[in-house]
Amino acid sequence: MVKLTGLNKIKTSVFISGTGSNLKNLIIFSKTKNSPISINLIISNNTNAKGLRYASQFKIEKRIFNFKNNKVAEKNILIYLKKNKINFICLAGFMKILSKNFIQKFKGKIINIHPSLLPKYKGLNTHQKAIINNDRFAGCTVHYVSEKLDSGRIIMQKKVKISAKDNLTSLTKKVLKKEHELYPASILKIFS
Ligand code: GRF
Repeated sequence: MVKLTGLNKIKTSVFISGTGSNLKNLIIFSKTKNSPISINLIISNNTNAKGLRYASQFKIEKRIFNFKNNKVAEKNILIYLKKNKINFICLAGFMKILSKNFIQKFKGKIINIHPSLLPKYKGLNTHQKAIINNDRFAGCTVHYVSEKLDSGRIIMQKKVKISAKDNLTSLTKKVLKKEHELYPASILKIFS
């Protein structure tokens, strides 16, 4: 686990592939005086990721890497992380699986947000699975990234009740709202 030692905030990179609502939320959080992190680099595998707009909006450096060859992409990402003195990584809707080698290099310094109450529903389509199974609760988890997908140590979770009226859209919205509370709370917990 990383400890906040100096007066400076921990230089953090957020990895995204899509909308970036968690990224936006983390940027806003990072600007508060309580935040132990600053966001200095946004990384994506997807040129069309909507969330990339927050890079220009908040004047944060962004880099896009082509994952056609994962090894090359990761090698180049590591160069940028080093160049920007990044020592903490938040995955936020990043749709690529990072290699064992990459994870080792940032051991205990990569966290992810997943839209289910892990260990339930690893992988994709978590809300659909919860609805199909008539679950009473859904939720989200922030966890350390380990070599096994969605299996690293859990930092924090938040639950939401699934009501009879819920569908995929409403449940996604409900959980996302909780995600926006959970990600900053988890970061505070890690560095407290
Ligand atoms: C979130 O539901 C997150 O848990 C999952 O992907 C989604 C990303 O949403 N990993 P956004 O791009 O942050 O809006």
